[in-house]
Amino acid sequence: MASLAAVRENNAGITRLYGSGLVAVFVGGTSGIGESTARAFIRNTDASRAYLIGRDEARAKGIIEELRHLKPDSQVTFINADVSLLREVDRACSAIQEKEEKVNILFLSPGTGSMNGRDETDEGLDKKLNLHYYSRMRFVSNLLPQLTKAADTTQPTTDSIDKSHLSRVISVLEAGGEASLHLDDLSLKTNWSLRNCGKHAITMNSVAMEHLASIHPQTSFIHTFPGIVRTGLNRDLGTTAKCAISALMVLAKPWEIPFEESGERHLFAATSTRFSPRADRDRYIGVAEGSDGGVGSGFYRVASDGSTYKPSKIMEQYRAEGVRSMIWDHTLNIFAQVRGGQ
Ligand SMILES: NC(=O)c1ccc[n+]([C@@H]2O[C@H](COP(=O)([O-])OP(=O)(O)OC[C@H]3O[C@@H](n4cnc5c(N)ncnc54)[C@H](OP(=O)(O)O)[C@@H]3O)[C@@H](O)[C@H]2O)c1
Repeated sequence: MASLAAVRENNAGITRLYGSGLVAVFVGGTSGIGESTARAFIRNTDASRAYLIGRDEARAKGIIEELRHLKPDSQVTFINADVSLLREVDRACSAIQEKEEKVNILFLSPGTGSMNGRDETDEGLDKKLNLHYYSRMRFVSNLLPQLTKAADTTQPTTDSIDKSHLSRVISVLEAGGEASLHLDDLSLKTNWSLRNCGKHAITMNSVAMEHLASIHPQTSFIHTFPGIVRTGLNRDLGTTAKCAISALMVLAKPWEIPFEESGERHLFAATSTRFSPRADRDRYIGVAEGSDGGVGSGFYRVASDGSTYKPSKIMEQYRAEGVRSMIWDHTLNIFAQVRGGQ
């Protein structure tokens, strides 16, 4: 667990630890947890660059305007993209790659609270499962060269060669909720239900990120459960469902994580040495938290209070039985089917 004071102390020390000029990409940065974390990132860093990816241009402009006043040395750019489509993910990544050699933080929180049934895009994937899993992994896959560059210890940081190097992927969904999957129908062509969609997105995020951490030791991969945060997540719901959620939010008030605190806590996950990559584990021995995927794997499942979850039985089983690699191969096959060789 991390107290809010410890979180704030960490965040205030980011420039001291990693230097200035950090680059962060917030997919879903126009609202909710992504927006709150982008705000915390700009507040706590110097001369940094952030990319907000989403569809709501007016909202993005408002956030950018506020952040420009708060930190005139920062640079925040909006990329308008419908990331329920892999081709739009590719376009957004190209726009970033044209400007940036390195990406220090890839923050993934695009989502929808929609309770409608399977909603297939013209790429043949379910919109919700795509937002919560496939398009997130497409961002990771596309931006791995920039994340690797950020981790490259032979490259000096902006301020000094003594600073640490920061390279992290954070996916915000529901770490801790992993469950068994329909292994013969991972994209839920025939087994779609709201429950299965949730289970598949959550478990595939954890399993795929654990796999990626095993082959990219310089980068940390972190799946978080944010707790209950009042955001725009119910915007796609009908009136009745919206009323029901509002009533539930009143009952859940004692457990609610304030909007700003959620951003501070996610920035902590994105920067604390507790969640260092596998390659840095020796350096932070005794500081780093227990990670999944074997000791020091560089993959972490982080709860809303900053603690890590106990190892998941189903993930251990999937690792031992080779299902972990199978899920990543399936993900690459989906990319190839939808995008060909691109
Ligand atoms: N809030 C909670 O209590 C809570 C609890 C558990 C898990 N979560 C998970 O946390 C994640 C973030 O949720 P949140 O509460 O921050 O929700 P939010 O306020 O609704 O933010 C979602 C973000 O996703 C973007 N987005 C949605 N559809 C998109 C699309 N097709 N293309 C591009 N961007 C899109 C939205 O941007 P535009 O509107 O600009 O497109 C927005 O920036 C979700 O996956 C959610 O399931 C949230």
